[in-house]
Formats: sequence, structure tokens, C-alpha cells
Amino acid sequence: MDILTYQNDFLEYLESKKWVKEPKNLYLPIKYILGLGGKRIRPVLTLMAAEIFSGEYKKALPAALAVEVFHNFTLVHDDIMDDAPLRRGNKTVHEKWDINTGILSGDATLILAYQYFENYEPEVFQNLAKLFSKTALEVCEGQQLDIDFETRNDVTIDEYINMIRLKTSVLVGAALQMGAIVAKTSEENLNEIYNFGINLGIAFQLQDDYLDTFGNPETFGKQVGGDIIENKKTYLYLKALEISTPEDKNKLKSFFNQKLEDNTTKIEEVKNIFLANKIPELIKELIKSYTDLAFQSLDNLNISEENKFKLKDFGLNLMNREV
Ligand code: IPE
Ligand code: IPE
Ligand code: MG
Ligand code: MG
Ligand code: MG
Repeated sequence: MDILTYQNDFLEYLESKKWVKEPKNLYLPIKYILGLGGKRIRPVLTLMAAEIFSGEYKKALPAALAVEVFHNFTLVHDDIMDDAPLRRGNKTVHEKWDINTGILSGDATLILAYQYFENYEPEVFQNLAKLFSKTALEVCEGQQLDIDFETRNDVTIDEYINMIRLKTSVLVGAALQMGAIVAKTSEENLNEIYNFGINLGIAFQLQDDYLDTFGNPETFGKQVGGDIIENKKTYLYLKALEISTPEDKNKLKSFFNQKLEDNTTKIEEVKNIFLANKIPELIKELIKSYTDLAFQSLDNLNISEENKFKLKDFGLNLMNREV
């Protein structure tokens, strides 16, 4: 089974649902954000895991939809929190409508996500709902830390890694584990596939942070430089702060204590400091080391070499993505 099959079947399932009813202002934004596409990484992982552990990926379609709908909910609220104008090359929900619409449609999207678990029998339902609730709370914790860090000047790289584990990785781990739950695999497989997702998710968020500054504005689909504008304490910033000259350190600190109207100079100068300190190379190395860590979990999985290769291949593609 290849990725395209999972993507197509997932899309067909998503499109078979009726998204819009009254009141339209509540439901249209849900259809809008889900229709903007995106890479559909999480639902594909759910389907892949179900196929790998049971050979029956279609049973996992409702769980895959729950994960993707939840992900889209987090994006709508994240874009409000990050004051982001663009998502997937289009206006964010709160820009196209307004902030209140983004808040309430987001809430409704979160609740919709839970409803797809009702497709499963009681035991699977309970396991999925339990994992989902734990994950959703952790994502909130990560998002709060992300916001707290904007105005803190003493964030460490360890704290940053913990923050991205919470805001991003746990959902990647959960996406995989949900497929494994539907497949009713062993406890050990459940744990290892989750660990695989956690490390892959950290690599994924590091790459997202890299692209936020160094991605191609034509193809990235989000505002390039958005993290610099918002004073996000990413690895790029924290590493540069650690290794740059005293002069550049002061410059960085001063820029990241300001919110400006015009960010052209700030983005340009911060980017130059990152480049002068070879931060792109360093973050690439870190992305590779988390990807390798993820691959180590595969050794402990009780699945065929062919299936291990599929998961590995997916991880390598994520590491080299440009969007
Ligand atoms: C964006 O996720 C949010 C992060 C956790 C970095 P994706 O990069 O998977 O977004 P889409 O769904 O493909 O647009
Ligand atoms: C994403 O972090 C985390 C969640 C959406 C939960 P970002 O804020 O970096 O995601 P993008 O870059 O806006 O997609
Ligand atoms: Mg954001
Ligand atoms: Mg954010
Ligand atoms: Mg980002």
C-alpha cells in the first residue's frame, strides 16, 4: 500500500461527510480549513499503523479523521494565538472571518473530532478516547508554554524541546498509536510506535521552525518570518544566542524584546545572524539525530522488515520536506 492510496482513501472519506449545516457561520469555517488541504501526515500515519499491525487500514478511517479534524482545530486557534495571516497559502480563519468565529468554530471542530470515535466498539472507543484526551491536554500545555516563552528571556534548549514535544510530537505519536489501537496490536508495539512518533514529531517541528525562517515564501503556505515577528524562542534563536558573538547576542535579545509595526529589518538582521552562525546546518543535524532516534524504535517493533522500511521512508521524506 503506498502513501497516495492512504491519502486518496482518506480524502474520499473526509469528503463523504456533510460539514455544513445551520448556523453557517459556525460550520463554513470548518469546511474551509479542512478543504485547504495540507499534507495530511497524521491521518496517513494512523492508516499506515493500522495496516502494518492488522492489514486492515480502512477500519482506521474514523480514527484518522478524528486526528486530522483535531489537528485542524489546533491550527485555527494557533493562528489566532500567533497572529498568523496565512495558512496553506490562503487566509487564516480569523482573517477571513473574525477572531470570535475562529474561537467558536475551533471549539466545534474539537468536539466533532471526538464524535468519530463513536464508530468503534466500547473497548476500542475507550482506548481511543483516553489517548485522545491525554494528548489534547498535552497539546494545550505545549501551546501555553510556547506563548509563555515569547516573553521569557531565559528559555533553555531543553525547555524548548519539551515544549515542541507537547505541542506537536504527542499528536504524531497518538496518530500512530490510534492506528495501532484499532488494529488491536500488542502492548509493546503500542508503546514503540508511539515512541517512534514522538521523536519523529520533534524532528518534524524542528523542520517547521527551520522552514518558518528559511522556507520559500512562494511554496511554504505560511508567512515566512512569522516566528521572528512573534519572538518565538525556537532552536534557531536559542542556539544562536548560545554561540554568537556578544554583539550579536545583544542584537538578538533586543530584537526579541520588541514587537514592531514594520518587521523587514528585524527579519533580515536576525536571519543574517542565524546564517553567520551556521544555525541552518546545526538544526539540520539535530533534525537528523531525532529522526535517527525515531528509527531506533523501529528495531523493537514486531513487524516485517518491509513494513519497517515503509515507516523509515516516511520519516526520511518528512525530514527533507520543503512545505
Ligand atoms: C502544522 O502542521 C503545525 C505543526 C505542528 C508544525 P502541518 O505542517 O502538518 O500542517 P498541514 O496540515 O500540512 O497544513
Ligand atoms: C504548531 O506550532 C503547534 C500546533 C498547532 C499545536 P506552530 O505555531 O509552529 O505551527 P504553524 O507553523 O503555525 O503551522
Ligand atoms: Mg503557528
Ligand atoms: Mg504556534
Ligand atoms: Mg511553525
